[in-house]
Amino acid sequence: MLGNFTYHNPTKLYFGEDALNNLRDELKKYGPTVQLSYGGGSIKRNGIYDAVVSVLKEEGKTIVEDAGVMPNPTVQKLYEGAKLAKDNNVDLILAVGGGSTIDYAKGVSVSAWCEEDPWQKYYLQQHEPTCRIVPVGAVLTMVGTGSEMNGGSVITNHEQGLKIGKVFGDNVMPRFAILNPRYTFTLPRYQMVAGFFDIMSHLMEQYFSNDDDNTSDYLAEGLMRSLVHATRIAVKEPENYEARSNIMWTATWALNTLVKCGKKQDWMVHMIGQAIGAHTDATHGMTLAAVSLPYYRHVMSFGLPKFVRFATAVWDIRPEGLTEKQVAETGLAALEGWMTEIGVVMRSSQLGVTEAMIPAIVDSTIIFDAGYHELTREEIADILRRSL
Ligand code: NZQ
Ligand code: ZN
Repeated sequence: MLGNFTYHNPTKLYFGEDALNNLRDELKKYGPTVQLSYGGGSIKRNGIYDAVVSVLKEEGKTIVEDAGVMPNPTVQKLYEGAKLAKDNNVDLILAVGGGSTIDYAKGVSVSAWCEEDPWQKYYLQQHEPTCRIVPVGAVLTMVGTGSEMNGGSVITNHEQGLKIGKVFGDNVMPRFAILNPRYTFTLPRYQMVAGFFDIMSHLMEQYFSNDDDNTSDYLAEGLMRSLVHATRIAVKEPENYEARSNIMWTATWALNTLVKCGKKQDWMVHMIGQAIGAHTDATHGMTLAAVSLPYYRHVMSFGLPKFVRFATAVWDIRPEGLTEKQVAETGLAALEGWMTEIGVVMRSSQLGVTEAMIPAIVDSTIIFDAGYHELTREEIADILRRSL
């Protein structure tokens, strides 16, 4: 394991069917006013809203309602939420939902008392907060992003054609997160499966970089194997608690800063996926699924040993009688088989991407040079064309 790193994760997790019982004690740590942030209404239909509100009321909290956080939260919604938090001088933002709601809550937490334009400061310029930060807590209802235990906050600016993530530090990460796998049972299949692929993508983004022998890669392989196993069960039996709980736990570990330790990390699938999202508002996990195979087939030859290891360690491909290239290709074919089996979107045209949109999507793509190959804009266009 090469390089230097610091590992610290301050989020306290409560996991399991009784996890919500811990909300009461967590609430006691904060002042009287709680901004309750949530999405388009799923929590009202499945009873999670009532369960959370009754604890807030029993604890005597004043609730500041903040509904309507959309999937892929927008900069306009961020401004609204920040104003609400400031006007009410809230003591805690309790995000009840998926990655969108939790990402948004982190954005609000550092924007409420920010004197500059938060979009400019945090997302475009990637600066750190210098103002008062409102603490965030989370009740997770959708599995995939890992937002419940990380500092990530992704905001979309449709006017500017940009969807940008900022990874905030320890002081913005949720103070606590409540993870009840049963809460995810009401997810529509499309969202459930998109989340499954998002988890795999987070692991692959961190796995496909560096050439040294690194414990983080062994951890990622174990998580990928668990994910493949559990998702195969969950697509057949969505209410299989054991499978859904393993997936929930895997999602958290896939992006809670552990498996990146000592790694450069690629993240180009996410950069292309987010650019697609900025132009189509498509579901995050599906944007990643649509571009992953063209991307990995393109970069495979630049990081061949790791793709061979991916094939053997994650997909149990037997290398006997095959060249390294054939082993690597068989591994990607196994990935493709699993994607087909769980039912992700395999083509970006199914998400609304057209040939004519490709130049704009390419322009919106942020390019990193940390994977096995630094992409040119022409290569991104080519990957997008092959994803159609
Ligand atoms: O809005 P409601 O009505 O709640 O419906 C939501 C939404 O339509 C629904 N849903 C959530 N829980 C449900 C449910 N429906 C029924 N039952 C439940 N229990 O699911 C839909 C999608 O929710 P959303 O929060 O948008 O999904 P996800 O968790 O995938 O979050 C996506 C956002 O997270 C960002 C993405 O870019 C995207 O903006 N990401 C955040 C990351 C991070 N913080 O580190 C990393 C990721 O790579 C990702 O970029
Ligand atoms: Zn993701």
